[in-house]
Amino acid sequence: MKEKIKAIRENAIKQIEELKDLTKLNEMRIKYLGKKGELTALLRGMGGLTKEERPIIGSLVNELRDKLEEKIKEKEEELKNKELMAKLEKENIDITMPSKKIEIGSAHPITQIINEVEEIFLGMGYEIADGPEIEKTFYNFDQLNAPADHPSRDLQDTFYITDDIILRTQTSPVQARVMEKQKPPIKIICPGTVYRSDTVDATHSPVFHQIEGLVVDKNISMSDLKGTLEIFAKKCLGENTKIRFRPHHFPFTEPSAEADVSCFVCGGKGCRVCKNEGWIELLGCGMVHPNVLRNCNIDPKEYSGFAFGFGVERIAMAKFGIDDLRLLYENDVRFLKQF
Ligand code: DAH
Repeated sequence: MKEKIKAIRENAIKQIEELKDLTKLNEMRIKYLGKKGELTALLRGMGGLTKEERPIIGSLVNELRDKLEEKIKEKEEELKNKELMAKLEKENIDITMPSKKIEIGSAHPITQIINEVEEIFLGMGYEIADGPEIEKTFYNFDQLNAPADHPSRDLQDTFYITDDIILRTQTSPVQARVMEKQKPPIKIICPGTVYRSDTVDATHSPVFHQIEGLVVDKNISMSDLKGTLEIFAKKCLGENTKIRFRPHHFPFTEPSAEADVSCFVCGGKGCRVCKNEGWIELLGCGMVHPNVLRNCNIDPKEYSGFAFGFGVERIAMAKFGIDDLRLLYENDVRFLKQF
Protein backbone atom coordinates (compact mmCIF):
# COMPACT_ATOMS: atom_id res chain seq x y z
CA MET A 1 0.00 0.00 0.00
CA LYS A 2 2.76 2.41 0.90
CA GLU A 3 4.40 1.63 -2.40
CA LYS A 4 1.18 2.39 -4.22
CA ILE A 5 0.82 5.74 -2.45
CA LYS A 6 4.37 6.65 -3.32
CA ALA A 7 3.84 5.73 -6.97
CA ILE A 8 0.64 7.78 -7.19
CA ARG A 9 2.40 10.71 -5.51
CA GLU A 10 5.33 10.72 -7.90
CA ASN A 11 3.16 10.21 -10.93
CA ALA A 12 0.63 12.87 -10.00
CA ILE A 13 3.19 15.54 -9.13
CA LYS A 14 5.06 14.94 -12.38
CA GLN A 15 1.86 15.12 -14.41
CA ILE A 16 0.70 18.31 -12.69
CA GLU A 17 4.03 20.01 -13.21
CA GLU A 18 4.02 19.25 -16.91
CA LEU A 19 0.52 20.67 -17.48
CA LYS A 20 0.14 23.54 -19.94
CA ASP A 21 -3.54 24.45 -19.83
CA LEU A 22 -6.32 24.96 -17.35
CA THR A 23 -8.85 22.46 -18.72
CA LYS A 24 -6.33 19.65 -18.43
CA LEU A 25 -5.63 20.74 -14.86
CA ASN A 26 -9.28 20.28 -13.99
CA GLU A 27 -9.23 16.80 -15.52
CA MET A 28 -6.27 16.06 -13.32
CA ARG A 29 -8.10 17.26 -10.22
CA ILE A 30 -10.97 14.90 -10.96
CA LYS A 31 -8.61 12.03 -11.76
CA TYR A 32 -6.87 12.15 -8.36
CA LEU A 33 -9.13 14.00 -5.93
CA GLY A 34 -12.64 13.40 -7.39
CA LYS A 35 -15.29 11.08 -5.89
CA LYS A 36 -14.24 8.34 -8.26
CA GLY A 37 -10.60 9.43 -8.17
CA GLU A 38 -7.52 7.43 -7.24
CA LEU A 39 -7.25 8.68 -3.64
CA THR A 40 -10.86 7.75 -2.88
CA ALA A 41 -10.13 4.29 -4.32
CA LEU A 42 -7.13 4.02 -1.94
CA LEU A 43 -9.29 4.87 1.08
CA ARG A 44 -11.86 2.31 0.01
CA GLY A 45 -9.16 -0.33 -0.26
CA MET A 46 -8.25 0.17 3.42
CA GLY A 47 -10.75 -2.47 4.52
CA GLY A 48 -8.15 -5.17 4.02
CA LEU A 49 -5.60 -3.54 6.34
CA THR A 50 -4.78 -4.37 9.96
CA LYS A 51 -5.84 -2.09 12.79
CA GLU A 52 -2.27 -0.86 13.21
CA GLU A 53 -1.76 -0.14 9.51
CA ARG A 54 -5.00 1.73 9.02
CA PRO A 55 -4.19 5.07 10.74
CA ILE A 56 -0.75 5.14 9.19
CA ILE A 57 -2.04 4.62 5.68
CA GLY A 58 -4.96 6.97 6.38
CA SER A 59 -2.68 9.77 7.35
CA LEU A 60 -0.43 9.11 4.35
CA VAL A 61 -3.40 9.37 2.01
CA ASN A 62 -4.55 12.58 3.72
CA GLU A 63 -1.11 14.03 3.46
CA LEU A 64 -1.01 13.14 -0.23
CA ARG A 65 -4.40 14.81 -0.70
CA ASP A 66 -3.12 18.03 0.91
CA LYS A 67 0.02 17.90 -1.19
CA LEU A 68 -1.88 17.41 -4.44
CA GLU A 69 -4.38 20.15 -3.61
CA GLU A 70 -1.53 22.51 -2.95
CA LYS A 71 0.24 21.55 -6.20
CA ILE A 72 -2.93 21.97 -8.23
CA LYS A 73 -3.55 25.39 -6.71
CA GLU A 74 -0.03 26.51 -7.47
CA LYS A 75 -0.30 25.27 -11.03
CA GLU A 76 -3.68 26.93 -11.45
CA GLU A 77 -2.26 30.30 -10.44
CA GLU A 78 0.72 29.84 -12.70
CA LEU A 79 -1.44 28.99 -15.72
CA LYS A 80 -3.91 31.84 -15.08
CA ASN A 81 -1.02 34.24 -14.87
CA LYS A 82 0.43 32.95 -18.12
CA GLU A 83 -2.93 33.31 -19.84
CA LEU A 84 -3.24 36.91 -18.66
CA MET A 85 0.27 37.80 -19.81
CA ALA A 86 -0.39 36.29 -23.25
CA LYS A 87 -3.61 38.29 -23.51
CA LEU A 88 -1.89 41.53 -22.53
CA GLU A 89 0.86 40.87 -25.02
CA LYS A 90 -1.64 40.24 -27.81
CA GLU A 91 -3.72 43.34 -27.08
CA ASN A 92 -0.79 45.59 -26.81
CA ILE A 93 -1.48 48.85 -28.71
CA ASP A 94 1.37 50.53 -30.47
CA ILE A 95 0.58 54.20 -30.03
CA THR A 96 3.39 55.19 -32.36
CA MET A 97 1.73 53.50 -35.38
CA PRO A 98 0.50 55.96 -38.07
CA SER A 99 -3.31 56.26 -37.92
CA LYS A 100 -5.74 55.37 -40.68
CA LYS A 101 -6.63 58.43 -42.75
CA ILE A 102 -10.19 59.60 -42.22
CA GLU A 103 -11.66 60.92 -45.46
CA ILE A 104 -14.03 63.80 -44.84
CA GLY A 105 -16.63 64.28 -47.55
CA SER A 106 -18.15 67.58 -48.58
CA ALA A 107 -21.57 68.81 -49.64
CA HIS A 108 -22.52 68.29 -53.29
CA PRO A 109 -22.22 71.52 -55.35
CA ILE A 110 -26.03 71.65 -55.70
CA THR A 111 -26.46 71.34 -51.94
CA GLN A 112 -23.79 73.99 -51.45
CA ILE A 113 -25.71 76.46 -53.64
CA ILE A 114 -29.01 75.66 -51.88
CA ASN A 115 -27.37 76.19 -48.47
CA GLU A 116 -25.82 79.45 -49.57
CA VAL A 117 -29.08 80.82 -51.03
CA GLU A 118 -30.96 79.77 -47.88
CA GLU A 119 -28.45 81.68 -45.75
CA ILE A 120 -28.86 84.83 -47.85
CA PHE A 121 -32.66 84.80 -47.65
CA LEU A 122 -32.81 83.75 -44.00
CA GLY A 123 -30.69 86.85 -43.39
CA MET A 124 -33.42 88.93 -45.07
CA GLY A 125 -36.10 87.48 -42.79
CA TYR A 126 -37.46 84.76 -45.08
CA GLU A 127 -38.67 81.37 -43.90
CA ILE A 128 -37.99 78.07 -45.64
CA ALA A 129 -41.07 76.27 -46.96
CA ASP A 130 -41.49 72.78 -48.32
CA GLY A 131 -43.96 70.95 -50.55
CA PRO A 132 -44.49 67.52 -52.12
CA GLU A 133 -42.64 66.40 -55.26
CA ILE A 134 -45.60 64.22 -56.23
CA GLU A 135 -48.08 67.02 -56.69
CA LYS A 136 -51.67 67.59 -57.71
CA THR A 137 -52.15 69.24 -61.12
CA PHE A 138 -54.43 71.54 -59.14
CA TYR A 139 -51.48 73.11 -57.30
CA ASN A 140 -48.92 72.78 -60.07
CA PHE A 141 -51.21 74.40 -62.68
CA ASP A 142 -54.81 75.41 -61.82
CA GLN A 143 -54.08 77.39 -58.66
CA LEU A 144 -51.25 79.11 -60.54
CA ASN A 145 -53.56 80.40 -63.24
CA ALA A 146 -52.57 77.78 -65.83
CA PRO A 147 -55.93 76.30 -66.92
CA ALA A 148 -56.54 72.85 -68.41
CA ASP A 149 -55.65 73.90 -71.96
CA HIS A 150 -52.36 75.58 -71.03
CA PRO A 151 -49.43 74.28 -73.17
CA SER A 152 -47.24 73.62 -70.10
CA ARG A 153 -49.68 70.84 -69.20
CA ASP A 154 -48.83 68.89 -72.34
CA LEU A 155 -48.18 65.15 -71.89
CA GLN A 156 -44.83 65.65 -73.61
CA ASP A 157 -43.77 68.26 -71.05
CA THR A 158 -44.79 66.67 -67.81
CA PHE A 159 -44.68 63.31 -66.02
CA TYR A 160 -48.27 62.29 -65.27
CA ILE A 161 -48.95 59.69 -62.59
CA THR A 162 -52.72 59.93 -63.03
CA ASP A 163 -54.76 62.58 -64.84
CA ASP A 164 -54.58 64.82 -61.81
CA ILE A 165 -51.32 63.79 -60.13
CA ILE A 166 -47.91 64.62 -61.57
CA LEU A 167 -44.27 64.97 -60.62
CA ARG A 168 -44.15 68.73 -60.01
CA THR A 169 -42.65 70.66 -62.92
CA GLN A 170 -41.69 73.64 -60.76
CA THR A 171 -41.46 74.67 -57.11
CA SER A 172 -44.19 77.29 -57.74
CA PRO A 173 -47.04 75.05 -56.39
CA VAL A 174 -45.53 75.60 -52.93
CA GLN A 175 -46.59 79.26 -53.33
CA ALA A 176 -50.23 78.21 -53.54
CA ARG A 177 -49.90 75.68 -50.71
CA VAL A 178 -48.35 78.30 -48.41
CA MET A 179 -50.88 81.02 -49.31
CA GLU A 180 -53.79 78.64 -48.63
CA LYS A 181 -52.54 77.96 -45.11
CA GLN A 182 -50.88 81.19 -44.08
CA LYS A 183 -52.24 84.69 -44.28
CA PRO A 184 -49.95 87.64 -45.21
CA PRO A 185 -47.35 88.78 -44.41
CA ILE A 186 -45.68 85.88 -46.21
CA LYS A 187 -41.97 85.74 -46.93
CA ILE A 188 -40.70 82.32 -48.00
CA ILE A 189 -38.25 80.56 -50.19
CA CYS A 190 -38.62 76.93 -51.18
CA PRO A 191 -35.76 74.86 -52.55
CA GLY A 192 -36.65 71.51 -54.09
CA THR A 193 -36.46 68.91 -56.82
CA VAL A 194 -38.58 69.28 -59.96
CA TYR A 195 -39.25 67.07 -62.97
CA ARG A 196 -39.79 67.61 -66.69
CA SER A 197 -39.91 65.14 -69.50
CA ASP A 198 -36.72 66.42 -71.12
CA THR A 199 -34.02 64.35 -72.78
CA VAL A 200 -30.65 64.49 -71.04
CA ASP A 201 -28.03 66.70 -72.67
CA ALA A 202 -25.38 69.18 -71.53
CA THR A 203 -28.01 71.68 -70.34
CA HIS A 204 -31.13 69.54 -69.70
CA SER A 205 -32.07 66.88 -67.19
CA PRO A 206 -35.49 65.35 -66.43
CA VAL A 207 -34.73 65.88 -62.73
CA PHE A 208 -33.33 69.17 -61.52
CA HIS A 209 -33.61 71.69 -58.70
CA GLN A 210 -35.28 75.05 -58.27
CA ILE A 211 -35.57 77.66 -55.58
CA GLU A 212 -38.85 79.53 -55.37
CA GLY A 213 -39.41 82.82 -53.59
CA LEU A 214 -42.67 84.48 -52.53
CA VAL A 215 -43.46 87.67 -50.68
CA VAL A 216 -47.06 88.79 -50.03
CA ASP A 217 -47.97 91.79 -47.91
CA LYS A 218 -49.60 95.19 -48.12
CA ASN A 219 -48.04 97.60 -50.64
CA ILE A 220 -45.52 95.19 -52.18
CA SER A 221 -44.35 96.62 -55.49
CA MET A 222 -42.09 95.77 -58.41
CA SER A 223 -39.34 97.89 -56.85
CA ASP A 224 -39.32 95.56 -53.81
CA LEU A 225 -38.80 92.67 -56.22
CA LYS A 226 -35.98 94.44 -58.04
CA GLY A 227 -34.24 95.51 -54.85
CA THR A 228 -34.49 92.03 -53.32
CA LEU A 229 -33.11 90.30 -56.38
CA GLU A 230 -30.30 92.81 -56.68
CA ILE A 231 -29.19 92.18 -53.11
CA PHE A 232 -29.46 88.44 -53.70
CA ALA A 233 -27.40 88.60 -56.93
CA LYS A 234 -24.65 90.64 -55.27
CA LYS A 235 -24.46 88.38 -52.23
CA CYS A 236 -24.53 85.19 -54.25
CA LEU A 237 -22.41 86.15 -57.25
CA GLY A 238 -20.24 89.05 -56.08
CA GLU A 239 -20.62 92.70 -55.11
CA ASN A 240 -19.98 93.98 -58.65
CA THR A 241 -22.84 92.00 -60.16
CA LYS A 242 -25.39 94.05 -62.09
CA ILE A 243 -28.92 92.88 -62.76
CA ARG A 244 -31.32 93.63 -65.66
CA PHE A 245 -34.96 92.76 -66.23
CA ARG A 246 -36.55 91.75 -69.53
CA PRO A 247 -40.31 91.45 -70.06
CA HIS A 248 -41.54 87.86 -70.17
CA HIS A 249 -44.67 85.83 -69.60
CA PHE A 250 -45.60 83.47 -66.80
CA PRO A 251 -49.24 82.62 -66.13
CA PHE A 252 -48.92 83.20 -62.37
CA THR A 253 -47.34 86.67 -62.48
CA GLU A 254 -48.40 89.97 -64.01
CA PRO A 255 -46.27 91.74 -65.05
CA SER A 256 -43.65 89.03 -65.51
CA ALA A 257 -39.97 89.35 -66.18
CA GLU A 258 -36.79 87.42 -66.64
CA ALA A 259 -33.73 88.69 -64.82
CA ASP A 260 -30.17 88.46 -66.14
CA VAL A 261 -26.98 89.13 -64.21
CA SER A 262 -23.80 90.62 -65.58
CA CYS A 263 -21.30 87.84 -66.18
CA PHE A 264 -19.29 87.45 -62.99
CA VAL A 265 -16.41 85.86 -64.86
CA CYS A 266 -15.71 88.62 -67.42
CA GLY A 267 -17.68 91.41 -65.74
CA GLY A 268 -19.77 91.90 -68.88
CA LYS A 269 -17.09 92.03 -71.58
CA GLY A 270 -18.00 88.64 -73.00
CA CYS A 271 -16.41 85.23 -72.36
CA ARG A 272 -16.95 81.50 -72.61
CA VAL A 273 -19.17 81.32 -69.52
CA CYS A 274 -21.64 83.98 -70.77
CA LYS A 275 -21.26 82.83 -74.38
CA ASN A 276 -19.94 86.30 -75.29
CA GLU A 277 -23.16 88.00 -74.24
CA GLY A 278 -21.90 89.70 -71.10
CA TRP A 279 -25.13 88.62 -69.36
CA ILE A 280 -26.30 85.34 -67.86
CA GLU A 281 -30.00 84.51 -67.59
CA LEU A 282 -30.75 83.99 -63.92
CA LEU A 283 -34.44 83.59 -63.14
CA GLY A 284 -38.11 84.18 -63.80
CA CYS A 285 -40.08 86.56 -61.65
CA GLY A 286 -42.99 88.98 -61.46
CA MET A 287 -45.83 90.37 -59.41
CA VAL A 288 -48.17 87.63 -58.17
CA HIS A 289 -51.20 87.50 -60.50
CA PRO A 290 -54.44 88.69 -58.81
CA ASN A 291 -56.09 85.43 -59.90
CA VAL A 292 -53.50 83.44 -57.94
CA LEU A 293 -54.09 85.54 -54.82
CA ARG A 294 -57.84 85.15 -55.24
CA ASN A 295 -57.52 81.36 -55.76
CA CYS A 296 -55.82 81.21 -52.37
CA ASN A 297 -58.40 83.41 -50.64
CA ILE A 298 -56.19 86.47 -50.40
CA ASP A 299 -57.85 89.73 -51.44
CA PRO A 300 -55.78 91.32 -54.27
CA LYS A 301 -57.26 94.73 -53.41
CA GLU A 302 -55.68 94.54 -49.98
CA TYR A 303 -52.52 92.58 -50.67
CA SER A 304 -49.93 92.31 -53.42
CA GLY A 305 -46.83 90.21 -53.79
CA PHE A 306 -43.85 89.23 -55.87
CA ALA A 307 -42.45 85.84 -56.73
CA PHE A 308 -39.39 84.44 -58.39
CA GLY A 309 -37.96 81.08 -59.29
CA PHE A 310 -34.63 79.88 -60.56
CA GLY A 311 -32.73 76.73 -61.43
CA VAL A 312 -30.05 75.69 -58.94
CA GLU A 313 -28.03 73.78 -61.56
CA ARG A 314 -27.76 76.89 -63.71
CA ILE A 315 -26.26 78.87 -60.83
CA ALA A 316 -23.95 76.01 -59.82
CA MET A 317 -22.71 75.67 -63.42
CA ALA A 318 -22.10 79.38 -63.80
CA LYS A 319 -20.53 79.81 -60.38
CA PHE A 320 -18.26 76.78 -60.53
CA GLY A 321 -17.54 77.04 -64.28
CA ILE A 322 -19.11 73.65 -65.09
CA ASP A 323 -19.96 73.29 -68.78
CA ASP A 324 -21.93 70.03 -68.73
CA LEU A 325 -24.93 69.51 -66.45
CA ARG A 326 -24.47 65.72 -66.53
CA LEU A 327 -21.28 66.00 -64.48
CA LEU A 328 -23.41 67.08 -61.52
CA TYR A 329 -25.29 63.78 -61.49
CA GLU A 330 -22.57 61.26 -62.28
CA ASN A 331 -21.28 61.36 -58.71
CA ASP A 332 -17.70 60.86 -59.80
CA VAL A 333 -15.71 61.67 -56.67
CA ARG A 334 -12.79 63.00 -58.77
CA PHE A 335 -15.17 65.67 -60.10
CA LEU A 336 -17.02 66.39 -56.88
CA LYS A 337 -13.78 66.72 -54.90
CA GLN A 338 -13.03 69.99 -56.67
CA PHE A 339 -15.83 71.95 -55.01
N1 DAH B 1 -41.81 78.35 -62.21
C1 DAH B 1 -41.09 79.02 -63.27
C2 DAH B 1 -40.38 77.99 -64.12
O1 DAH B 1 -40.25 76.89 -63.72
C3 DAH B 1 -40.11 80.00 -62.73
C4 DAH B 1 -40.79 81.18 -62.10
C5 DAH B 1 -41.10 82.28 -62.84
C6 DAH B 1 -41.17 81.17 -60.80
C7 DAH B 1 -41.73 83.37 -62.32
C8 DAH B 1 -41.81 82.25 -60.22
C9 DAH B 1 -42.08 83.36 -61.01
O2 DAH B 1 -42.17 82.29 -58.97
O3 DAH B 1 -42.72 84.41 -60.48
O4 DAH B 1 -39.95 78.33 -65.19
